Amino acid sequence: MKKEEKFKEILCIGAGYVGGPTMAVIAAKCPDYNVTVADIDARRIAAWNSDLLPIYEPGLDEIVKRTRGKNLFFTTDISSAIKRCGIIFVSVNTPTKTFGEGAGKAADLQFWEKTARAIIEDAEDDKIVVEKSTLPVRTAELMHRILQSNTKGLSFEVLSNPEFLAEGTAIRDLESPDRVLIGAMETDSGRIAMEKVFDIYARWVPRDRILTTNVWSSELSKLVANAMLAQRISSINSISALCEKTDADVNEVASAIGMDSRIGPKFLKAGVGFGGSCFKKDILNLVYICDHYGLGEVARYWEQVILLNDYQNRRFVNRIIRSMFNTVANKKIALFGFAFKADTGDTRESPAIYISRLLAEERANLAIYDPKAIPNAKKDIADIASSVEFHEDPYSCAKSAHAIAIITDWSEFRTLDYQKIYQSMTKPAFIFDGRNILDKHKMHNIGFNIYSLGSRPLTTS
Ligand code: UDX
Ligand code: ADP
Repeated sequence: MKKEEKFKEILCIGAGYVGGPTMAVIAAKCPDYNVTVADIDARRIAAWNSDLLPIYEPGLDEIVKRTRGKNLFFTTDISSAIKRCGIIFVSVNTPTKTFGEGAGKAADLQFWEKTARAIIEDAEDDKIVVEKSTLPVRTAELMHRILQSNTKGLSFEVLSNPEFLAEGTAIRDLESPDRVLIGAMETDSGRIAMEKVFDIYARWVPRDRILTTNVWSSELSKLVANAMLAQRISSINSISALCEKTDADVNEVASAIGMDSRIGPKFLKAGVGFGGSCFKKDILNLVYICDHYGLGEVARYWEQVILLNDYQNRRFVNRIIRSMFNTVANKKIALFGFAFKADTGDTRESPAIYISRLLAEERANLAIYDPKAIPNAKKDIADIASSVEFHEDPYSCAKSAHAIAIITDWSEFRTLDYQKIYQSMTKPAFIFDGRNILDKHKMHNIGFNIYSLGSRPLTTS
């Protein structure tokens, strides 16, 4: 294969929520590139090659159907793919460490390191290795050292190209991103490698939206973007607690402050707390790095974003208990939604997990409905299985329940027949709207005691 040709062979190691959709969009936008997605998980790869993809993401099926077998391939044969491809994206998981130094905070880089070692084992020529997974600052340096330790005389360029897609809107985010960030070492070879990755995105992203920085800025920017987004949510959630004590309404406060163009309206939706695989992990990582560099005050500042989020989960459950005459023991509570947000089946770090456990500790009987997340939910809360039943439709879920708790902002929850639901429930019937998606006056008129998050309840008795 000619030297330049191999840079049209792209490999992504890690076929998860980031690797799969990102590579599908690259394949669709760059028909003259061959894109291979490889994973050690044979079941996941089999699913990517089937009609039932391993992740639910609006628009993903259609793109995969269009490109798979043409210039998009899913495989477990990582070794051949490494040999063939000139550009290797690495999108393996980097969970929070659960053991040893930094347990509970630092990123566990063992999967990353294994990948780097697989690359040097199988590579037969120079490669560009691109960090896609979110990684602590200066990981590129460690990776570069591991890769350069090869005894074959090969040279590797390590770039950072963090992915900013949000689940549920991944395809839209990938097709028209606010920005693409590419960080490279400030060397001639670093710049040449960066141009190759730049050229891929320039096929569909306007050039002025492709930002190039040094590799450390790129790595840090991803952590900071997530920390700032999560911080906004914790800020508005803290105010929701105050609103519940006063006659203020958090939605009105969010609208009023969001109209200030310096603040802006996005990410000001109060709720049961943020979830997802990124926010908590990345902030813990930031906290760990700050502590590592002796920046205790900075670390404590960011840590508070997580503590407030935990408080918000607990506060939601405590409000349920208090409002239902101080006990939920043996009462049926219907949870509407289990995914960490709408339009995904992903439940990683979902507030639903914590809320379910807290309610089960109070001996509530839980009934759970979610349009996409039930298979994951069953695994997440297997430890409290005896307190939980799962439903395939919201009406059976709510039948004879004492209360409904809305945990996920699925749009279908807005349009259910709440009159019918009310009639089937035990009275007095409660709704705890943890996402503020229902019209509280309408619910109150039906007869519900309605507790929207961040405002005074409307009760019937
Ligand atoms: C996030 C970042 O948005 C994305 O850029 C990054 O690449 C990965 O992490 P994701 O976790 O997929 O994406 O979803 P996001 O839309 O950010 O929502 C995260 C959590 O915050 C969800 O639980 C969501 O319900 C919650 N949220 C979001 C709120 O509670 N209020 C809001 O106003 C916005
Ligand atoms: P994300 O949400 O960041 O995409 P996921 O956990 O969904 O993360 O995906 C990460 C993927 O990386 C998993 O499918 C996992 O099997 C894969 N993976 C982990 N380690 C390796 C490895 N050494 N080689 C190949 N794939 C790996």
